[in-house]
Amino acid sequence: MRSRLYWIQTPQRQEDIMAERTALVVVSHHRPDSLTAHVGDVVAARLKEAGYAVDLLDLRAEGFDPRMTTADQPDWDDREKIYSAEARAHMARVLAADVIVPVFPVYWNSLPALLKGWIDRVWNYGFAYGRSKPRLAGKRMLWLGLAGAPDGDDFAAWMKETLDRVLRAGISFYTGITEAAVEVLFDAEGEPQIVDDEGNLTKGEALTGPERTAHYERMDRQAEEHLEKFLGL
Ligand SMILES: Cc1cc2nc3c(=O)[nH]c(=O)nc-3n(C[C@H](O)[C@H](O)[C@H](O)COP(=O)(O)O)c2cc1C
Repeated sequence: MRSRLYWIQTPQRQEDIMAERTALVVVSHHRPDSLTAHVGDVVAARLKEAGYAVDLLDLRAEGFDPRMTTADQPDWDDREKIYSAEARAHMARVLAADVIVPVFPVYWNSLPALLKGWIDRVWNYGFAYGRSKPRLAGKRMLWLGLAGAPDGDDFAAWMKETLDRVLRAGISFYTGITEAAVEVLFDAEGEPQIVDDEGNLTKGEALTGPERTAHYERMDRQAEEHLEKFLGL
């Protein structure tokens, strides 16, 4: 006779519980050797270390086309519209994720076109918004931008506030994401840049050699710290 103890579950090990969580890291840069791509790898590694199963979505490497298409244009009369196979495959990856971390260069105080197009085509009507019970509820999202501007001046504060409104409030909150934040890695190019009161940009010499390596290591550490703070690691 089969032991009646068979249904008593053994307590799950902490690692098993952690492994069930998935993180989608969305890297958006046209160059594989960019600092952005590097920071994406750092973020993915830190998430793996924390026990997440990581889905690294490199939009450039996967050939994602950010241009809107008729197939992926919302139909306001049909929230059950079947979007393109490509968009639906991306939707499945978003749905599978507990945590979503887009890593991108800040372009014009906003997203680069590649990432903007991913939001436009994938975070679509009927999927990401337009339902009384948001499908993305329960998820967490950390937007991690890299910016050329140095931290600490009024312009940097204004940029961060702008990104926060558009990305956290305008996209994450609007789509029912439970918890979201925007963090910026300033001074990403390792070159002193100053925008004066008239809006003119002046920049100094780019860092090289060990100085550059140290600068990039500081960037890595900052990215990890933002992640740790957001996820409570
Ligand atoms: C088209 C374009 C627009 C940019 N706009 C901004 C901006 O609004 N604010 C800022 O601080 N940096 C801006 N930058 C600088 C980038 O944020 C910076 O070069 C990038 O984050 C460096 O990372 P990467 O080496 O991975 O490209 C811009 C760069 C480009 C090419």
